[in-house]
Amino acid sequence: MKILKENFQKRGIALGLCEEEDCHELFLCERECFPGDYWSENTFLENMKNPACRMVCLCDMQVPKIISYSVFYTVGDEADLANIAVLPERRKEGIGGALLDEILGIAFSDGAFRIFLEVRESNEAAIGLYRSRGFAEIGKRKRYYRNPTEDAVLMMKER
Ligand SMILES: CC(C)(COP(=O)(O)OP(=O)(O)OC[C@H]1O[C@@H](n2cnc3c(N)ncnc32)[C@H](O)[C@@H]1OP(=O)(O)O)[C@@H](O)C(=O)NCCC(=O)NCCS
Repeated sequence: MKILKENFQKRGIALGLCEEEDCHELFLCERECFPGDYWSENTFLENMKNPACRMVCLCDMQVPKIISYSVFYTVGDEADLANIAVLPERRKEGIGGALLDEILGIAFSDGAFRIFLEVRESNEAAIGLYRSRGFAEIGKRKRYYRNPTEDAVLMMKER
């Protein structure tokens, strides 16, 4: 990974831009964070080739180990947050919020004016996270998710 910020938030955590060599570890995190409906390692590798896509992570440098990651795309003045997750044992420490703050900063400085995302309607933690960062609910997508089938809430934040 290419380190963007060392000793992030003074907690021995580094903010990094993921590279191809990180895809296996990202996949292991993904499988732990989204049991039943997770991206394959190949999906991470394919995304790595997409110039609109960015994958960032927070790494606990004392282990070292990826503890949180996110995948997002910026095209023109719109960004799409595809994924954000924190390992179960590191949740509720402010890590997801800190990573989302960084993503918003990167996407806005890339030229995005609006950021969209979808989230399972039962995912209270994620909806709470997005609301805490100023995202508003703008619609629903019926039966958007599988394993289990569920509607998505569509959320948006403007710069
Ligand atoms: C959603 C997720 C990324 C939050 O990460 P986190 O590191 O625990 O979040 P933080 O500790 O930074 O909390 C930030 C804000 O999110 C909200 N939040 C976090 N957990 C919450 C919960 N269980 N219920 C309601 N709100 C919650 C709160 O508003 C919190 O702000 P506060 O600290 O002022 O209360 C994490 O729960 C996760 O990885 N979940 C599984 C993967 C997932 O569902 N990702 C989203 C896909 S759309």
